[in-house]
Amino acid sequence: MSKEFWNKTLGQSFEIKKIDGSILDNNFSPSERYLIDLLGDIRGKSVLEIGCGNGNLTVFLAKLGAKVTCIDTSNVSIQNTMRLAEYNGVDSNVKALNIDAIMIGQIDEKFDIATGSFILHHIEPFNDFARLLSGVINKGGKCVFLENNLRSPLLWFAKKFVVGKLGVAKFSDDSEFPFEPRELDMIKKNFSYVKTHYAEFVFFQLLVSHIFRNNKFFISVCGFLDRVFYKYLPFFNRYSYRQIICFSK
Ligand SMILES: C[S@@+](CC[C@H](N)C(=O)[O-])C[C@H]1O[C@@H](n2cnc3c(N)ncnc32)[C@H](O)[C@@H]1O
Repeated sequence: MSKEFWNKTLGQSFEIKKIDGSILDNNFSPSERYLIDLLGDIRGKSVLEIGCGNGNLTVFLAKLGAKVTCIDTSNVSIQNTMRLAEYNGVDSNVKALNIDAIMIGQIDEKFDIATGSFILHHIEPFNDFARLLSGVINKGGKCVFLENNLRSPLLWFAKKFVVGKLGVAKFSDDSEFPFEPRELDMIKKNFSYVKTHYAEFVFFQLLVSHIFRNNKFFISVCGFLDRVFYKYLPFFNRYSYRQIICFSK
């Protein structure tokens, strides 16, 4: 999506708030909490956050004691992130750079951890990015990303041929396509250990936002179905629209 789109969206959604370092108090989703757990003890570690948006994760990690460099193509994102960091008293531990992820090779630093949420599927060419990312991670370092997931053939078909037509709502523009298994293979080519995790099953609830327009009855039915699948049919987790990808060299 375009820089203009994100400048506008982030400008509208920015909220200056105290981030207190407690996962539960910050209303993170189950997947975000899972991602933070997978990062482990980050005190004193150097962290790269890619596509930092309004800076919530960057500031959260800085408050836990990490030295965070974050990047984003939106200049509004960078301003908001630094404002949030200052407000929370951690600006000396945050460096925010207004660059495209494909330029990470130009950052004159290596990191213990790379992270981000809903950013990988925006980056092109992804093959080059995966190689460059491997170059900025210290030996023994790890990468943990929360992403969408287009492994399900049904979701792939819906995304390609149904969303945006026949009254089915579309929330993205044509330049954006969810994260596909072939992109996971590109990560596997550059990293030796790659594992996907699922903290929740997000599938039926997509019907609520795209077709049932947040109707309360369908919110509870689809939410219930997703919870049943997550708990009792773990085989299907790989088709969840939300995944956490953890990889290291
Ligand atoms: C879906 S938002 C996610 C923001 C934040 N990570 C979150 O989860 O709230 C995507 C963010 O990535 C940024 N972005 C998109 N493409 C990018 C790219 N190629 N390089 C760096 N940032 C990018 C956008 O400006 C936006 O801030």
